[in-house]
Amino acid sequence: MALTTTNPTSTASWKKLNELYQKNKGISILDFFSSEQNRVKKFQVEAANLFLDFSKNKISSEAFQCLVELAHELGLKEGIQAYFSGDEINETEGRAVLHTALRNPYSKVKVNGELVSELVNKSLNKIEGFTQKVHSGAWKGYSGKSIKHVVNIGIGGSDLGPNMVVDALAYYQQPVTTHFISNVDGDHVHEILNKLDPETTLFIVVSKSFSTQETLNNANTSRDWLLKHTTQTEVAKHFVAVSANVEKAIEFGIDKAHVFPMWDWVGGRFSLWSAAGISIACAVGFDNFKDLLAGASEMDEHFRSASFDKNIPVILALLGVWYGNFYKAESEAVIPYSQYLQKLASYLQQASMESNGKSIGRDGKLVNYQTGSIVWGEPGTNSQHAFFQLMHQGTQLIPADFIGFLKPLHGNQHHQDLLMSNFFAQTEAFLKGKTAEEVKKELKQQGKSDEDIDKLLPFKVFEGNRPTNTLLAEKLTPKTLGSLIAMYEHKIFVQGFIWNVFSYDQWGVELGKQLANTILRDFSIDEPQNHDPSTQQLIDKYKKARS
Ligand code: F6P
Repeated sequence: MALTTTNPTSTASWKKLNELYQKNKGISILDFFSSEQNRVKKFQVEAANLFLDFSKNKISSEAFQCLVELAHELGLKEGIQAYFSGDEINETEGRAVLHTALRNPYSKVKVNGELVSELVNKSLNKIEGFTQKVHSGAWKGYSGKSIKHVVNIGIGGSDLGPNMVVDALAYYQQPVTTHFISNVDGDHVHEILNKLDPETTLFIVVSKSFSTQETLNNANTSRDWLLKHTTQTEVAKHFVAVSANVEKAIEFGIDKAHVFPMWDWVGGRFSLWSAAGISIACAVGFDNFKDLLAGASEMDEHFRSASFDKNIPVILALLGVWYGNFYKAESEAVIPYSQYLQKLASYLQQASMESNGKSIGRDGKLVNYQTGSIVWGEPGTNSQHAFFQLMHQGTQLIPADFIGFLKPLHGNQHHQDLLMSNFFAQTEAFLKGKTAEEVKKELKQQGKSDEDIDKLLPFKVFEGNRPTNTLLAEKLTPKTLGSLIAMYEHKIFVQGFIWNVFSYDQWGVELGKQLANTILRDFSIDEPQNHDPSTQQLIDKYKKARS
């Protein structure tokens, strides 16, 4: 079944939401707390290893219910069904979207007559065997030494997800170091290779297409580096691939038996659960990789079965629509209070912005409302000392997800208390702000004169009333991480569904790639080319520097 093509603004619920927005916008979140009985209890959900408190939002219970109605009116239930059933919801590429099947060993879904779970389970067995070989020391390099370094070569979805997860699960690291080469920047490649020993290094080239410029060039450079120490026949001992393009991987010098599968029904940015996540299994062990999948699967179950008003991904998605389309907020921040999650925001940037940064609706028409959202963030408490000033006192509304863990991994309770007190303090400060009266009182206590107080007062007032969601989990484990990532994947699906866009293609990245190839050719051509005057000037300057 194809996804519906309804313009959300044409629905009755959208019209009602507009009215509710007018009614709500002058009411503060604190007023909602006073006027709505049991708001905290009503606006919280505990499911799939996560606890969500969404009571600190600029929304009345009535408007929230109306958002839920919007989801029903647009047919989200059927949409979710189509998503999980393997229907071709990636219509512009003619593909199913089945990353959820990667974490469901019992899935009954078939694609082109093939039972997806059979392919998935076979791939998982292969990942397990490979990981064990690396960890046990049975996998040997050209000189007979075991592997100590694993390098993931990939970009976009073939890098960001695995890279983020390996960092996030560093606590569970096995005695193999993991590295990531992504950027085509030669200095980046050099810096990584420089740390490695060719005898004990294994490269995993991850590219669904096996045609991505960055990945192929980085793989070639890494192979050249290896070949300074050994011969072409030994390349297969140091390179494996994850790709849907087996021939190209073999052409590169990789043994057919060491090409792990990727399928066209898994989008790059949702592929960390497949063999694209093999660097994760190498870093933290296969059992932890399976726990990651299990956590995601629990979130899948919750998402499929919970009613929309108690459904974590649906709630987060609806709130995002509320802020983006009614409050006209353009961005949202993700603030994990865990340094392990330092790459979460960049991972989510691709997952979310490549998915929903579209302006053509599923009906093929230009949309007349805002889609997508700029996702950004950094771990707390660092972010507090960087950009929180703008979030507290700037002119823009930036809804934020705060993510934290009740228990630390290394057991340092003192630091944990400091960390979490900052977490809760910030969400309280965003909510309550600081009134002129409070500022006045404080300055008086500090002994300031009335004149000084009048002068300083406006600068020290915090308006407050800024929305946050709080997400808590017991501990940062592979399982909770799996649930957290799957939660955001489903939020992205729901938002794309509501915005009536195709979330699983990415045509917008193609133009730049084409032009880069043209410009690369033009670096070695003398005749003037067909570029705009500014670009031509830059190319000329560059050509002069390289000659
Ligand atoms: O350029 C965007 C993109 O196509 C992403 O969607 C994808 O994750 C990335 O490039 C890498 O693609 P591949 O795995 O085919 O090398």
